[in-house]
Amino acid sequence: MTTENKGIEQKWKDSVEQIVKRFPERKQSFQTSSDIEVERLYYPENDDTYHEKLGFPGEYPYTRGIQPTMYRSKYWTMRQYAGFGSAKETNKRFRYLLEQGQTGLSVAFDLPTQIGYDSDDPMAEGEVGKVGVAIDTLHDMEALLDQIPLDKVSTSMTINAPASILLAMYIAVGEKQGVPKEKLTGTIQNDILKEYIARGTYIFPPKPSMRLITDIFAYCKEYLPKFNTISISGYHIREAGSTAVQEAAFTIANGMAYVDAAIASGLDVDDFAPRLAFFFNAHNNFFEEIAKFRAARRVWAKIMREHYQAKNPKSWKLRFHTQTGGSTLTAQQPDNNIVRVTMQALAAVLGGTQSLHTNSRDEALALPTEESARIALRTQQIIANESGVADTVDPLGGSYFVEALTDQVEAEIEAYLKQIKELGGAVAAIEEGYMQREIHRTAYETQKRIEKEEEIIVGLNKYKIDEEVNPELLKVDEALEREQKASLQATRNERDNELVESVLKQLEWAAKQEDENLMPYIVNAVKAYASVGEICHVLRDQFGEYGSI
Ligand code: 3HC
Repeated sequence: MTTENKGIEQKWKDSVEQIVKRFPERKQSFQTSSDIEVERLYYPENDDTYHEKLGFPGEYPYTRGIQPTMYRSKYWTMRQYAGFGSAKETNKRFRYLLEQGQTGLSVAFDLPTQIGYDSDDPMAEGEVGKVGVAIDTLHDMEALLDQIPLDKVSTSMTINAPASILLAMYIAVGEKQGVPKEKLTGTIQNDILKEYIARGTYIFPPKPSMRLITDIFAYCKEYLPKFNTISISGYHIREAGSTAVQEAAFTIANGMAYVDAAIASGLDVDDFAPRLAFFFNAHNNFFEEIAKFRAARRVWAKIMREHYQAKNPKSWKLRFHTQTGGSTLTAQQPDNNIVRVTMQALAAVLGGTQSLHTNSRDEALALPTEESARIALRTQQIIANESGVADTVDPLGGSYFVEALTDQVEAEIEAYLKQIKELGGAVAAIEEGYMQREIHRTAYETQKRIEKEEEIIVGLNKYKIDEEVNPELLKVDEALEREQKASLQATRNERDNELVESVLKQLEWAAKQEDENLMPYIVNAVKAYASVGEICHVLRDQFGEYGSI
């Protein structure tokens, strides 16, 4: 082995020694059922090519994982996406899942909240509390996080266009709990580009949207150093029908657009890049998913170190959350979904995810019942505690198939990135419709294969049974919309409406300026109990709304 590579090996061993002081490994030693010692890492001792391609976990280019000891020290965060009905109901589910061993929170908001309408807005009718929790004012956020210690629990919020408003509410609840901003941990999705491509909950045009996003980057750099400012998402791109390669490539291209925008706003890349995070899908093709995660880490590490010249290794690490593929769930024979989710979750773990949501068996039919959500969480706990796959780092590393597939996926991601660069980058490619066309083409081809039974979906186009599918499903109480409206009106009656008017005027002034960071004004507005809709209407008046792309 060359001297340089011997040095790299020693550096890895030293970093392990440092890390285990802060993150001791879960056990003194790890054995199989036959008492065979399981080593921390398996790699070829005297093979110089190993270092060029794979390297050590926790070392550039992170093919084998971003932490030197990975799950031997700390399992991935078990973070179930949850939210429905009122803040009080969702708070009950949050506390249930935490009692059942979940280790991170993940908030699903209803569509009115996600697209900036209050529950009593005509646009919200019929959707209040339906696909997520209804949050109108800080009053609701206080109820949502009641009895949840924000100095101990990290919270992900799946919110994009109004991300700054929900982050401001989270800060305000933290302060009420006596938790200072700098101690808050969590993530806001805050990824508007994939909303234009696939998910659809955008409000403002690209330019002001990017301004809101980079304002959050700058604000969090100053005040919330432990908070992840964006979760650059491939999940929904995949759910819209992309391939694994397109998912990774379009997500990384979007990530580069955010880095470019932040640098253009005056930030140094190492000011914000350590707090960029990602979010991927775990789909059905087991080995391709594992290769996708490993290739994406390597591609991102090279882009950040070589293209952007980031100096801080934390800027090079692609840290990601995974959700098992919602679109793979079938309404037919719903219990089959437990098996699909298990395989997909295993792929995410073998691919080195930092955080994981496992879908529930009934989610092709409705939001999950408590029992289904518990089975989904138990799936993760069984993989972690019973399968042994978390006992050595990157167990599939070195496999002829996995490494060849990782190389191939990496090459195809890079080909797409070159194409997008030639189109002028992600924003231009989206406005031109390139990514959307690619996804629609793939989705159509996939659907044709399923209909021709060239692609088998068990229970759907093969191994079917005549069945009465009527499992017990979660129902959101119709009375909720009325109660939420009444609660919002009560807040409006109790608050200091002169103060609300004044803080909304100040926000309007700031939005008119080119270089005012809007976060402080939004924090003031939420603290005065201004609502999501009222704040978004001020911003709509200044920025306008974006038509469909
Ligand atoms: N060795 C050393 N340190 C370790 C370690 C190890 N083995 N394991 C963990 N750590 C450290 C980490 O470095 C981190 O410390 P730091 O913040 O100081 O760096 C701390 O322990 C926490 O670990 P992670 O950051 O790895 O785990 P988190 O769970 O806190 O964060 C994340 C993971 C991916 C970075 C973060 O962005 C996250 O939680 N994302 C979740 C996003 C999410 O849930 N999205 C849901 C969207 S749902 C949706 O959109 C679908 C709907 O539309 C249908």
